Amino acid sequence: MKVTYYGHSCFEVVSVGKSMLFDPFITPNSLASSVNISNIKPDYMLISHGHENHVADAVSIAKQSNCTCIAILELTAWLKSKGVDNVYPMNIGGSHKLDFGTVKMVNAVHSSTMLEGMPGGNPAGFVIQNMEDCFYYAGDTALHSDMQLIPRRHKLKCAFLPIGSNFTMDVLDAIEAARMLGAHTVIGMHYDTFGCLTINHEEAHRTFQSAGINLHLMKIGETLTL
Ligand code: NI
Repeated sequence: MKVTYYGHSCFEVVSVGKSMLFDPFITPNSLASSVNISNIKPDYMLISHGHENHVADAVSIAKQSNCTCIAILELTAWLKSKGVDNVYPMNIGGSHKLDFGTVKMVNAVHSSTMLEGMPGGNPAGFVIQNMEDCFYYAGDTALHSDMQLIPRRHKLKCAFLPIGSNFTMDVLDAIEAARMLGAHTVIGMHYDTFGCLTINHEEAHRTFQSAGINLHLMKIGETLTL
């Protein structure tokens, strides 16, 4: 799988020839000013929850690419209200098979009201599994013990975990999460974008290293092959 980072919690993952964009928040992110969203045309968009820093560019990218937008039911209703018709609603615990493999929507402990006050449904994470890759995208979440259920059915190649604290897990909780998940490679997200999310990169790398887990803190625009 190839992973490209667009800042905050936004990644484009290409696996088995299909591209999946997660949680687009690019144009309002001053750290991601080098990214031109008109070039982003994924096959699928997966949205974890309705907070602005996860959906800001969802409607414009959905319209320019006509990608299939996968999210919890209430969030797909919000997308439809914005004129995005190519949506696929799910709910927590459900799986669906698509041409990139199987997507399973899993629990996240967070909140999810849209900026305009519309309900965003429950916050969620995703497990993607196909013949080549298997990964977990946690969305925004606290550390929670449901994570230990995931490796019972999925052998993860990597986990995308929030590490910036304040609104989500911090570095130490993300290490606990990786242990529960059986994940030896973690891609950090939801850090540095705002002042309250600033982390010490060197310390984060050192802490993960001493726990025996690889941590990737990707540069914006960087592509990683796993
Ligand atoms: Ni959030």
